Amino acid sequence: MNDAQTLAVEVIAIEQVTPLVKHFTLAAADGAQLPAFSGGSHIIVVMNGAERVYRNPYSLLSSPHRLETYEIGVRRMEESRGGSRFMHDTLRVGDRLAIAHPVNLFALDKIAHKHVLIAGGIGITPFLAQLEDLHHSGASYELHYSVRSTEHAAFSSQLRERAGDRLRLYYDSEQQAIDFDGLLSAQPLGTHVYVCGPAGLINRVIETARGYGWPESHIHWEKFSAPPVGDAFDVFLARAKLNVHVPPDRSLLESIEAAGVEVPYLCRGGVCGFCQTRVLELDGELVHNDHFLSDADKARAKSIMPCVSRARCKSLVLDL
Ligand code: FES
Repeated sequence: MNDAQTLAVEVIAIEQVTPLVKHFTLAAADGAQLPAFSGGSHIIVVMNGAERVYRNPYSLLSSPHRLETYEIGVRRMEESRGGSRFMHDTLRVGDRLAIAHPVNLFALDKIAHKHVLIAGGIGITPFLAQLEDLHHSGASYELHYSVRSTEHAAFSSQLRERAGDRLRLYYDSEQQAIDFDGLLSAQPLGTHVYVCGPAGLINRVIETARGYGWPESHIHWEKFSAPPVGDAFDVFLARAKLNVHVPPDRSLLESIEAAGVEVPYLCRGGVCGFCQTRVLELDGELVHNDHFLSDADKARAKSIMPCVSRARCKSLVLDL
């Protein structure tokens, strides 16, 4: 994926759905239908800010059976590089954006006997689209959605309408918590579990499911990392023969792109492996933030995922 493969869209509606989450509706700028997708897909939104370009992944929450528009939910992140602030503060109805074609790295298993969906906060968004697919196929499912309080329960009325009594909401403010043991110890054979939300929730679900002997192929999670801020460092791109400075609030991938060098990507969240880049020389250490490389590969420090990972180093040379 690169920017040449993007689609032009127009923002046709913006709605503030919780104090932190806005709901955006996008339509193709030429009025055509948008490309087909399945529940769990994400798009990369390319935002041209005043001083820089942001490219952030967002899950599609609209129905895969309605392709006139795409809908996304964006949580405002204060401690970030600024993409979500751009979406919240700068974007207006009528503005144009570029988006990458949808990619699904969090697909429902088509032959599962039952689906247990677990969401925390803004992690609900891929499940909204998946509910449409589940209803369409008549599949058996239950949805568990954990939020801070009622005012933070984004999209709860759509969910209630869609899922009815298959939806269970948990409010931290009322000390309600998902009973992971109860939930994952007694599911019928052939059940798949899917989790999206904060890292702590994802890890808890994975560990509990593994503890009860769930096969790895039945445990699914979406763990996009926002590229963390960090110390500035410099990198030399060996093939392009370019020195690139990586400031604290910009990812390595964004810095390389700003220097005019393209790196393939799909998720920009440390999941897909598309941006994997060979490390040719390193004086210092890599700060791996991805969920793709194994621990052994991370320790070998021979490759890096520039979409989310950084370095603390005197020098770093990449095969780009
Ligand atoms: S673009 Fe997917 S891991 Fe970097």
